Amino acid sequence: MNQKYNAGWTAMENATQADFEAVIDFEAEYNAALVDRLLLQLKQLDEPWTPYPLNRYQHSLQSATRALNDGADEETIVAALLHDIGDVTAPYNHGEVAAAILKPYVSEKTYWVVKHHCVFQGYYYNHYLGGDRNARERYKDSPYYEDCKYFCHHYDQNAFDPEYASKPLEFFIPMMRRLFGKNEGHMELAERADDKVS
Ligand SMILES: [Fe+2]
Ligand SMILES: [Fe+2]
Repeated sequence: MNQKYNAGWTAMENATQADFEAVIDFEAEYNAALVDRLLLQLKQLDEPWTPYPLNRYQHSLQSATRALNDGADEETIVAALLHDIGDVTAPYNHGEVAAAILKPYVSEKTYWVVKHHCVFQGYYYNHYLGGDRNARERYKDSPYYEDCKYFCHHYDQNAFDPEYASKPLEFFIPMMRRLFGKNEGHMELAERADDKVS
C-alpha cells in the first residue's frame, strides 16, 4: 500500500485534486489484490460438514469444472466458480452479491444469470419446501431466461457429485486474474457501477 501520502483533510468537501489522486493510486493497488480477497472468501465455503454431498467450496469447483468441460467461455467459468460466494455474507440473496462482484467485468448476460440463479435453482427444490418450483417463469420474457436455465441445469444443480473430477482452485486462478484484470480504468468502473441492468 502507498504509505507516502499523508492526507491533510478531514471532510471530503475540503480535499483537493492531489488528495483524490492519492486515493485513486491507493485504489489501483487495492483493486489489484481483489482476486486474492475473493479467493479467501471462496475458501470460507470449505466447511467441514454440510448436508450436501459436497460442501459449497467443492460445489463451486465442480460447477466451474463442468462449465469448463462444456466449452463455456472464460467469464462463464469464473461466474460458475464464484456464483455462490455471496453465501458467506448474504445467505438469502447470495446471487445478487456474486452478480454485483462480477458486474464490472462481465457481460449483461452473465451478470443476469448469476443474479437470478437462486430463483432458477428453486425449480429443483421449491416444491419440497412448500414453494413454487416454477417461480423462474416470472422471468420467461427475459432474453437471458434460457441461459439461466442452462447454467442452473448443467453447472449448478448437478455439481454435487463426489465422483466428479473437479479441477483444483489453482487451475482457475489465472482465469480470475485475466477477468478481474480487464477493468483498469477508474472512471470506466464508476460508469459500469451505474445500475444499468435490472
Ligand atoms: Fe446459489
Ligand atoms: Fe450453487
